Amino acid sequence: MSSTVFHSQRYDLAVDTISDADLTELMDWMKAYPRLTMADVTREFEAAWARWLGVKYAVMCNSGSSANLLMYAALETSRKVAAKKIVVPTTGWATTLMPALQLGWQPIMCESDARTFGMDLTCLEEILKRERPDAIILVQVLGVPCDMTALLALQKKYGFKIMEDCCASHGARHQGRLVGTFGDLSSFSFYYGHHMSTVEGGVVCTDDEQLYFHLLMGRSHGWLKDLPPQEAARYMELYKVDPFRAPFTFVVPGYNLRPTDINAKLGLIQLRKLDATIERRIANHKIYQQQLQGVVDFAPGLPGDIISSISFCALAQSSEERRRIVTALDEHKIDTRIFTAGNLGRHPFWSDRYGTFSAPMADRLYHCGFFLPNNQSLLGADVEKICAVVRAAKQGTVGNRG
Ligand SMILES: Cc1ncc(COP(=O)(O)O)c(C=O)c1O
Repeated sequence: MSSTVFHSQRYDLAVDTISDADLTELMDWMKAYPRLTMADVTREFEAAWARWLGVKYAVMCNSGSSANLLMYAALETSRKVAAKKIVVPTTGWATTLMPALQLGWQPIMCESDARTFGMDLTCLEEILKRERPDAIILVQVLGVPCDMTALLALQKKYGFKIMEDCCASHGARHQGRLVGTFGDLSSFSFYYGHHMSTVEGGVVCTDDEQLYFHLLMGRSHGWLKDLPPQEAARYMELYKVDPFRAPFTFVVPGYNLRPTDINAKLGLIQLRKLDATIERRIANHKIYQQQLQGVVDFAPGLPGDIISSISFCALAQSSEERRRIVTALDEHKIDTRIFTAGNLGRHPFWSDRYGTFSAPMADRLYHCGFFLPNNQSLLGADVEKICAVVRAAKQGTVGNRG
């Protein structure tokens, strides 16, 4: 059997987007003794993010998971959902779904689509007809956009709110339009290793003013203090609250999900290089698709859409083949892991309550999916080397480490 020697460098799945220069800029700012939480810098970042995405409102919070929780909370406290029945994806992150369980909603799980690994819209329409849910939460899975054109048509036909979890999809586009601009609400994460990092951090985006007000209250204790004066005045009139009492009047059951201004300052610094990072990830993803065609399966995405991934998700033909490839990757110091959570309906938090969810694509992702690194530190040549290891492992010709 021929033996293939590849490289000696280590390839990590996630690398930091925060550079020495970023930290120096941050520390210089901190030395001026700014307030560090919920002062102007958070609002400045929110305005800059809303501009970058092309939405009216952005509310920063302390993680992508908190952003998801805030979306559910805002839909609920604004009374935009009545029965709290929601369709959730089997492929995504645990905290995409968990707020439904925590807040007492009724979640219905939906199978994944082979082209995008997002929600299977045929399966979704069957659920819509049968269950008449108030809302869905979808994930733009690893930067591969869902068929949002078809989804918006379903929304028009059946009437439901859309929450769009874009926590790992910054810069992906469906038919030229950025993900995160389709849903009634959308969320992004700025966790370490994502397209941009504020260490921990997240943001919720919307064009709906009422939802925006509820996000502001939900993020900060449910109080009136953060509302724009006119909206606060409306509540003061409604509840007969005088100006002295008003800021600390608690209107909805809220949380403390606030970021610090340190996160927001980092966000402003990171935003300057976000487009370049996205370009690199888009280019790397394309190379993976070209080089691994016919070697492993992956989500091709829809024609004309732009995939901006944080990892490349590959599917082996079997668990056995996955084990072989993963072992070879490990031997060549190429970081890998299971594909996100695979099928969330096979994890105890779900199966203990609702029984195991099983569907062909979801189970395939669970048993055969694995990640390959994609980040801004990788050049095309690095991706080609990684692909060569996968190809050799598939053919059983992978040899000693270089
Ligand atoms: C799709 C998705 N949703 C939510 C999250 C949670 O984000 P965070 O780690 O910032 O809480 C992640 C994290 O990677 C994610 O991939």
